[in-house]
Formats: sequence, C-alpha cells, structure tokens
Amino acid sequence: MENKSWVGLLVLCLAIAVVGLAEAGVPAIFILGDSTADVGTNNFLPGSMARADFPHNGVDFPFSRATGRFSNGLNSADFLSKQFGLKRSPRPFLSLNTTSLHKKSFRGVNFASGGSGLLDITGRTMLTLMKFGKERIPFGAPFFNRKNVITLSEQIQQLSLVKSNLAAIKGQRLTEKLISKSLFFISTGSNDLFGYYHSNTSFSEEAFLSSLELAYEKHLKSLIDLGARKFGIISVAPIGCCPSQRIYNTTGGCLEDLNDLAIAFHARLDALLFKLSSEHKSIKYSLGNAFEMTINVIQYPLAFNFTQVEAACCGAGKLNAESFCSPKAKLCPNRNNYLFWDLFHPTQAASKLAAVTLYNGGPQFVYPINFAQLAKA
Ligand SMILES: *[C@@H]1O[C@H](CO)[C@@H](O)[C@H](O)[C@H]1NC(C)=O
Ligand SMILES: *[C@@H]1O[C@H](CO)[C@@H](O)[C@H](O)[C@H]1NC(C)=O
Ligand SMILES: *[C@@H]1O[C@H](CO)[C@@H](O)[C@H](O)[C@H]1NC(C)=O
Ligand SMILES: *[C@@H]1O[C@H](CO)[C@@H](O)[C@H](O)[C@H]1NC(C)=O
Repeated sequence: MENKSWVGLLVLCLAIAVVGLAEAGVPAIFILGDSTADVGTNNFLPGSMARADFPHNGVDFPFSRATGRFSNGLNSADFLSKQFGLKRSPRPFLSLNTTSLHKKSFRGVNFASGGSGLLDITGRTMLTLMKFGKERIPFGAPFFNRKNVITLSEQIQQLSLVKSNLAAIKGQRLTEKLISKSLFFISTGSNDLFGYYHSNTSFSEEAFLSSLELAYEKHLKSLIDLGARKFGIISVAPIGCCPSQRIYNTTGGCLEDLNDLAIAFHARLDALLFKLSSEHKSIKYSLGNAFEMTINVIQYPLAFNFTQVEAACCGAGKLNAESFCSPKAKLCPNRNNYLFWDLFHPTQAASKLAAVTLYNGGPQFVYPINFAQLAKA
C-alpha cells in the first residue's frame, strides 16, 4: 500500500513538472552561445582554457559543485529555463548519450560553449586573451592544436544531429512540430567584440560590425532551415564595465569605446531580426537588451540589492580582476550583493535578475515581446 502511494505521488510530481513547460506550449528549450549560457560543455574539451569546473566556481551550487558554469551558482540559462518550469538548464549536448533523447522527460539541450562567438575564429584568439589578461602572450602554435571551444557553427551542427536522432525516435512529422514550437535562446557576441577591441586590426568598426551581422544572419538562417521558429536572443551587455576591462581605465571607470561597440552591435542585431522576421513570416523573436538591463543596475545598484558593481567577487589584484577565479583566488562573502562573479561573468544573483527581466520585462529591456509572450506566440 505504502509503496503504491509513493508511486502515485511520484507520478503526480512528474506530471506537474511536465505541465510547467507544456502549459506554455513549449515542448523543449535549446540554448546556444558563449560562457554566459555554458552549463558544462567545455568540461568535455580537455585542452580548453575556457573552463570553470573547479572552485570557487559553483560555491553556491547545491553541494558546492563546480559544474563548469562561470558562476557562483546557476547562470542565466538556468534561470530562464526555470521560468519555463524546468529545474535548471537542459544538460550540455556533450554530456548526452544514446538514451538521453529517448527519455519522456526530454526537454531540450544546451550547446553553449564558453569563449565562443559569432565568428569561428573567436574562440582561439579570445582565449589567449582571457587566460592571460594583461600579460598577453603571443597567439602561438600550441593553442591552435587545442580544441578550446565549440564554435557557434559547430553548435548548430550538433543541433542538426539532435534533430536527426529525434526524428529516428519520434518520426519526422512530430520532430518538425517539436522544433517549431520550441524556444531557441542565443547569447553571444561579447567575445567577438572583446577580440576586435583588443586586437590591433586595421579593420574599421563598421566593417567589423557588418561581418558580425552577416555571421549572425547565416547562423539564424541555418536554424530557420532546421525548423526553428521562436528565438529568444540576448545582445551584448556593457562589456566595457566588466572588472576585466575597468582595470585598463586609470579611473576604474568603464571602457567607453567598448560599450559603444556593444550599443552599435545591438542596433545591428535589432535591424537584422526585423529584416529576417519580415522575410520569414512564421518566425517570432524577443531581443533582450542586455546593455540597458545591466546599465540600469550599474546606475541604481541599491534598487537591486547590489552594493558592489565594479569589482569581481572571485579573483585577485585590482578590482579582484587581474586573475580568473580559481581555488587560490580571493572570494567575497556577500555574493548576493555583487554584480560580477569573476572578471567577466555575472553572479547568480545578477543572472537571476536578468532572466526574470527577459521573461516578463517591458519593451525598454526586451523587444518587441518578452520571453513569456514569445512562448505563447
Ligand atoms: C546515460 O546518461 C544518463 C544520465 O547521465 C546515465 O544515468 C546513464 O547511465 C547513461 N547511460 C549510458 C548507457 O551510458
Ligand atoms: C598595435 O599597433 C600599434 C600602432 O600601430 C603598434 O605600435 C603596436 O606595436 C601594436 N601592438 C601589437 C600588440 O601588435
Ligand atoms: C574611464 O572612465 C571615465 C569615467 O570614470 C570615463 O569618463 C572615461 O571615458 C573612461 N576612459 C576610457 C578610455 O574609456
Ligand atoms: C539582499 O542582500 C542581503 C545581504 O546580503 C541578503 O541577506 C538578502 O537576501 C538580499 N535580498 C534579496 C531579495 O536578494
């Protein structure tokens, strides 16, 4: 008897968990992009230098587990997924095995890979820069032999593989339907802008932004060809205000030129999405303005319970931003009051705020509809 009621309860709990996502008409969530959304992809790349599967990362995750997230706990991909009734982000593609897609509980895949960008070249150059910060070392042969990141192009190939596997299990028609109703979250672009800004290229800003816009268009068209219809896109935050960039400004202020690049990138992305949605009437999108969201927090920190929006919580040196977060780094105690976890990434508290704003924020932060409306659209 007792056993039976346990089973009954279990079934009920499972049913409720499934209803959360199904209620919104969203069968699954697919996440692509960079370290802002990576939930452990790079743990599977032994040679990668963009990894976070060691303490103090994860210090506020259940059991203080370092999962590969660049955060003290969950990241924005997790909190967005939670808004749609999942426990956290779907698992990384590279952690899946042949049984994963068969599961009744299949609710999506996360492909995001720290260090990647819109351009295939970005993972290589960026990592050297990120890893060594100010003591930059020349981009050398050893780094070209390593698999540092899964590029966005590769992430889309992986999605294509997932789709073929789903089709083999569920049939082509059901799979097409699943893909067309699913949400595709993309968070990328920062690493491309960092790479451009810190390189000495003679490429003009306009030409570079055009190349990024073209790359984004190519990626989105590939996703549309695969049947994706609902896009939740997150643009670039004021990355000139990252602790890692503030240390290049003698006043400790933001690097204005880098912020201007982020604003210009947002305008390009806005125009591109408008164009694509006119060409493909069946696609729906939300564009999250990470710049406005974050600048708002930096200007009015106390309104969001933040007391420190300049220094990193985990790191070393000036603004705690002269090294990456590592077991030897200095760790702040009041992590809920920090905007930045490490020299580049937001804390769990900041990621949660971002996800809630994307989900139900107004048009100044997420446009033309928010993520909740996107799910129902
Ligand atoms: C597949 O992955 C799941 C979840 O990590 C694990 O429990 C299971 O044992 C794996 N199955 C095989 C055949 O490796
Ligand atoms: C960047 O460009 C300046 C001026 O053209 C040059 O003096 C400098 O050596 C270059 N730095 C690097 C790292 O290539
Ligand atoms: C450095 O920060 C100050 C604000 O403190 C700002 O006015 C200035 O433009 C910044 N410098 C650069 C190079 O961005
Ligand atoms: C605000 O910060 C305080 C101090 O760290 C913390 O105890 C509290 O939980 C925070 N409040 C919210 C709503 O996050």
